[in-house]
Amino acid sequence: MEPEQLVSGISPRDLTNQSADQKNGCHKGETSTDPSKEWLHNLWWQVSDAQEETDYYDRTAEDYESVTNQLNWRAPQLCMKTITNWEQKSGGAIPRHSVAIDIGAGTGLSGVALRDIGFTGPVDALEPSANMFALAKQKNIYRDWYGEMLVEGEETTVPGDMYDLAFSVGVFSDRSAKKGSMSEVLRMVKKGGYISVIMVARHWLDEFRDHIALMEAEGLVKTLHVDMFDADMYMREVAAVAFVMKKL
Ligand SMILES: C[S@@+](CC[C@H](N)C(=O)[O-])C[C@H]1O[C@@H](n2cnc3c(N)ncnc32)[C@H](O)[C@@H]1O
Repeated sequence: MEPEQLVSGISPRDLTNQSADQKNGCHKGETSTDPSKEWLHNLWWQVSDAQEETDYYDRTAEDYESVTNQLNWRAPQLCMKTITNWEQKSGGAIPRHSVAIDIGAGTGLSGVALRDIGFTGPVDALEPSANMFALAKQKNIYRDWYGEMLVEGEETTVPGDMYDLAFSVGVFSDRSAKKGSMSEVLRMVKKGGYISVIMVARHWLDEFRDHIALMEAEGLVKTLHVDMFDADMYMREVAAVAFVMKKL
């Protein structure tokens, strides 16, 4: 499904702004005196697998909320906006007492955003970084914590067919939680349940869009709604795509 909402009216390809040595205005080899830009630069250029990414978040957990605040991190709110956009457009509703899981919960900003749109049910967290989750725990949102990472082709210990909603904010990419792990998230969700994801636009355009189309062709999911958010809405200089899918 193509995005419903091209916020700026420009094409998805224009939003990626990348070449081999450039990711959303973040150039390979560049150094910055801005600590938030440096943090993002190191994440994008020095991390190449799930273990390295977990270690990186573990090392920088204490700085995460101040750094993302500097980067104007609005991803949690936009993920929820996509849920409410779909609800308003379709007349559908994800019950607010749903049992949910936050995939890559981090320090819990995504859980806070879910509560802010009225979800009152239990929320579990899958978060591999113990230091990130130690901060999330203080927010008193989460029920059970799975300190595990999504790795393509591997199952976590999260039970199958357990959740009405799995949501994930800023986790899927080409480094750590890769496209093949969408099926692990799908396994966790009940038949008829929902998956809501927001990610950097270039990852969706490069890989995830086609992968999800294949999942649809296999009759596993139906995409209900897609929003595209122009650069600076999700995070400084970074465009994003958010979607809501249903498990068939
Ligand atoms: C950008 S942070 C987002 C945190 C939170 N969702 C938010 O909105 O602020 C990405 C999180 O995903 C986690 N993560 C990274 N790779 C992962 C993987 N393969 N499986 C699950 N979580 C992962 C990181 O540890 C980190 O906490």
